Parts: sequence; C-alpha cells; structure tokens
Amino acid sequence: MNRLIVVSNRVTLAQPSSAGGLAIALSAALAQRGGLWMGWSGQQTDDKSPAPLAISTVGKITYALTDLTQKDLEEYYQGFANRVLWPICHYRLDLAEYERKEMSGYFRVNRFFAERLASLVQEGDLVWVHDYHLIPLAAELRRAGLRNRLGFFLHIPWPPPDVFFAMPVHAEILKSLCSYDVVGFQTKYDVENFLGCLHRSGLARHVGGIITTTEGKSLRVGAYPIGIDTARFSTLAAQSATSRPLRKAAESLRGRDLIVGADRLDYSKGITQRIDAFERFIRSEKHMQGKVTYLQITPKSRSEVPEYEAMQRVVAEQAGRVNGELGTLDWVPIRYINRSVPHNLLSGLYRLSKVGLVTPLRDGMNLVAKEYVAAQSEDDPGVLVLSAFAGAARELDGAIKVNPYDVEGIAQALSTALTMSLEERRERWRSMYDHLLEHDVQHWCEWFLDDLEVPPLQ
Ligand code: F6P
Repeated sequence: MNRLIVVSNRVTLAQPSSAGGLAIALSAALAQRGGLWMGWSGQQTDDKSPAPLAISTVGKITYALTDLTQKDLEEYYQGFANRVLWPICHYRLDLAEYERKEMSGYFRVNRFFAERLASLVQEGDLVWVHDYHLIPLAAELRRAGLRNRLGFFLHIPWPPPDVFFAMPVHAEILKSLCSYDVVGFQTKYDVENFLGCLHRSGLARHVGGIITTTEGKSLRVGAYPIGIDTARFSTLAAQSATSRPLRKAAESLRGRDLIVGADRLDYSKGITQRIDAFERFIRSEKHMQGKVTYLQITPKSRSEVPEYEAMQRVVAEQAGRVNGELGTLDWVPIRYINRSVPHNLLSGLYRLSKVGLVTPLRDGMNLVAKEYVAAQSEDDPGVLVLSAFAGAARELDGAIKVNPYDVEGIAQALSTALTMSLEERRERWRSMYDHLLEHDVQHWCEWFLDDLEVPPLQ
C-alpha cells in the first residue's frame, strides 16, 4: 500500500476531545491506515522564518508541524482564507473583504507549506490535501518537481459561478485546483457548481465523464460526502449517558424536554435565526413555557476576524434578552454555553435530548447532524431538525428538513419534533443510522483514496 500523506491547516494530536469536524475525521482516517500528517502547529512564532518542521510519532501517525508567523496568520488564515474564501464559499459576497496583501500572503504561505512538504515526499506517496486554506498547494508542489498523485478535498460548499466569479483571483484559484489529480466535494451540487465555474472560465473540457484541462491533463472531479466514526460515536454516547456529569445534567432538567444545538460561533451556522425560532415557538405554544429547555453550545471561533468578534456579542445579547423576557423563577429557556464541551459529554447530551437543532444557512456537510443521529438509542431516539442547505440533508432522509431563514417554519418543526410518536421517531432514526454505519469515515477515506490511486482512463 502506498504511504498516505495528509495535509491540512488544522491538525489535532492524539485523540481529539473538542477538535473540529475536519480534524476528527482525519485523525480517524489516519489512525487506521497510518501515514504522515502535515500542517500548522497551532503556534505563532515571532521569528521571521519559523524553525524546521517538528516531527513526532503517535501510534501509526507521524506528525510534521510548522509554526507560522503573525504576518502569515494575519494574511493567509485570518485574511484570505477566512475573510474571502470562507464567505464566498458560503454565498456571503456581502461579507468578503479583499486585500491584495492578504491574497499574496495566502499564496506565499502555500508556497512555504509546499517547500517544507516537498522534502518529506517519497516516490509513490499519495498526497491528500484538505480544505480551502491550501488550494494552491498542488501547483506549488508541481513547480517543485513532484510527480506524485495529488488529491484535494473541500470540506465546505463550492458556490455557483456568479458568486465565485465575484472574487478577484478566481482564475488563479480555479487554475490551482486543476493541478490536482482528483478534486472532491461534499455533494453533487458542489460538483455541479465547480464544473460550471470550470466551463465558464474555459480552463477545462468535460468529455465522457473525464475532465481535461487546457494543459492536456486529466482531472477527476466527484462528490465524496464525508462520514463520521459512527460505531465509535454511538458507543461513546451510550457510555457518556450514564456518566456522573450527564446524570447531573439530566437531573437539572427536572423532566423538561431538551432541545440541543452545537456549532462553532460562525455566521454560517444560522444561530441567531435559530434563537429567534425557539423564541417564536415558546411564545406561540404557551403550554410549552416551563416545559422545554434549549441548550446551545457555541465555542468561540476565529475571534481575530471582525465578523466573528461582532457575532460573539450579538448571540450573547440575544440569548440574554430571551431569557430576561420569558424566563421565570425556576425556568431558564435558553442555556447558552460559549465554550467548547468535550466530545464525550456532547455525545451524551445529544442522547439525552429530544431534538437536535441543526440549522446552518449554508454548510458543506455538518458533522453535528450525523453525530446527533449516531448518538441516539433505538429505545427513545431524538428527532433531527436539519437545514435543507447543509450537505448532510442530501443523505439524512429521516430528518425534518427546514429552511434556516424561515423562522416560523423552524418553530413549526420544533413543535412537530416534540410531539412525534415513538414509532415514527424510530422509523426515521433507523434509516439514517443504517446509512451512517455503512457510509462512515473509513468508507469515505477508502473511496477517495481508491480514486486517487488509479489514474483515470484517457
Ligand atoms: O468547516 C471547515 C472546518 O475546517 C471544519 O472542518 C472545522 O471544524 C472548522 O472549519 C475549523 O475551523 P478553524 O480551523 O478555523 O478553527
């Protein structure tokens, strides 16, 4: 078997407890097959040129981590990746802030990653690059003379051509993607959008299922919806449900139904619309006042980026206002936790709840939705209320689908979920759970790597 090299901006060492979706999925994938994982160390250095890669091995994974300078982080991570690519890919042209300095910083840091990686790559290694931070990596690696098979997977959505083309340097970004052998997306809608961009830019032709770039290179493009470690998460939830912290949490509810939401603090997650919907629900269904608790767990994220900093205040004020207006001496309608909660506790909370409320305005996949389903037990499964604009909605047919902008619709879905019969809940849950067992993270990993290993027929 060829050695696998995974490259991502965010890397997590050992067992993640509160890491993000990408890091959890990649550690699960690498734990089984083994390989090398290269990325940012999470450390900022004051030196002008960071120290050599820090190499360490844990189990079957060798980590190769690099520090980044403050300038690098400002321009590449907080700048172009999170103030241009992130909003554009989430259809938020209004929030994109273009700075030429940051764009060139983004390409510079990718070149830096490529130079460091090139010295580690051996003949036959498969290189699998992840997410929007590192799109230009393949072009830089090719420039350094690498001929290995190079794959790229985008964890976030890919927007339609009209949105994408509003971004300066869209041509460079598209061209960079053409340097890979395989480019994978979460859903077939992202693939369609990407192909639309390629065609409109004239960078590639699509004949009989194979894409040929203007430079004569073939490119495989496909949808590979990411999975989770379903069986492991299910066991974790069962164990966590009987743990002391979970028993205390259950007692504190005093028999009230629990609705749970868990998202990084991000404008793409639809948190403010969701709080509005919960407020509308308890105002319109007065008999539910005092009978239901909404727990929103929202770790801070990317706080150096102004849009995220502003949101921090907005959500805290909103939750406080609803509690102030509707709470009583013995009932707090919204419990708002503004920090991360370990993964095992989260799994138990999902299992304890009646409803998982996952309403992003736009999301590549949304692994919380999948984890929510995996955490349920057949005895008394909770109901997933899911945004139609999350990639997960293409697979999770047993969820109640909502339009995340439709506050009244979400309120209505909450009512439906909380009154659903056990029989219907079981039926909906079973089909989703079986799907997730079959399409887990290992399946995702093998599927992508099988395609990366085999060159397409010309
Ligand atoms: O959605 C993209 C993503 O990379 C997730 O996979 C991950 O959970 C999150 O963003 C982490 O963001 P950051 O690395 O900026 O903290």
